Amino acid sequence: MLEELEQLHEAALQQLAAANSGDDLDNWYKQTLGRKGSIQLLTRKVGSLAADDRPIFGRNVNIAKKALQEAYDARAQQVKMAELAAKISAEALDVTLPGRVQPQGRLHPITQTMRAIYRVFGDMGFQVYRSRDVETDEINFELLNFPPHHPAREMQDSFYTNTPDVILRTHTSGGQIRAMHEYHPEPIRVILPGMCYRNEQITTRSEIQFTQVEGLAVGHNITFADLKGTLTEFARRMFGEERDTRFRASYFPFTEPSAEMDVSCFLCDGDGCQVCKYTGWLEILGCGMVHPNVLRNGGYDPDTYTGFAFGLGPERIAMLKYGIDDIRLFWANDLRFLEQF
Ligand code: PHE
Repeated sequence: MLEELEQLHEAALQQLAAANSGDDLDNWYKQTLGRKGSIQLLTRKVGSLAADDRPIFGRNVNIAKKALQEAYDARAQQVKMAELAAKISAEALDVTLPGRVQPQGRLHPITQTMRAIYRVFGDMGFQVYRSRDVETDEINFELLNFPPHHPAREMQDSFYTNTPDVILRTHTSGGQIRAMHEYHPEPIRVILPGMCYRNEQITTRSEIQFTQVEGLAVGHNITFADLKGTLTEFARRMFGEERDTRFRASYFPFTEPSAEMDVSCFLCDGDGCQVCKYTGWLEILGCGMVHPNVLRNGGYDPDTYTGFAFGLGPERIAMLKYGIDDIRLFWANDLRFLEQF
């Protein structure tokens, strides 16, 4: 029996050396050390031995089992490494291939334009003042010197809410009143950015929602020269050092006098092109000296305080700058458009 054990042991080691895969190893294990494997079958015959020989046989079986188990573990490790090496060389990785580009997203062109505007006015000491999108008729119109049936309301057809006299703001100018209520009697230098809403026919040139950046300066001895200087500096920082500006008389109920500012066309340098309609000028914003009634409504005494205000449309600036001919593109969420900025 001991001899038989030795032969089994020898044969098993040889078979093990020939096992080259996980399957080979599994089979070997089943046939050798498994519950119905050759070693186990041999031990069952222990009963046919003389009683004295049994412990010796048992000890030898245990030694053989341990040796085989160790041989199996070593071989299994070898096979695993060999399989891994084969896999690595088969699936060789070309580390010189360029990686996959991760789409990153970017800022909306209007956000970019707004931030460029904040930067210029920020450098001139203007703070960003956030005002609300849902506004009362009083703040949006009345305190800005638009009485209830004033014809200037006609230009700003409004979206009404279910609450009487609560509307979506039609311009950022209402924020002037809120800023004045908060700051008075301190001097003010703020810009008021945000979305505005008008009940308009949607066309390539007008949308029902669009952004504005309002500006307001209130203090002592502020004159129209300050307005011109500030806005001309803005135009040069925004559109180029060589830009000229001109101011044309206009009308807004909340400023007096009022003006519209044109900037010499930055596309043709004032020579005349399609964008400036061969005038050499681009209309950029509305502005004026804060009307005494508005100062009063904000809590400032118009006998001792003066101020200027302006309002501009980032969509219009972006359209001029990038040659965009349809304002609807900004809020249509079409990636083919947005990815270009
Ligand atoms: N609120 C005006 C508009 O919507 C623009 C403006 C702002 C004009 C401030 C003058 C001063 O058209």
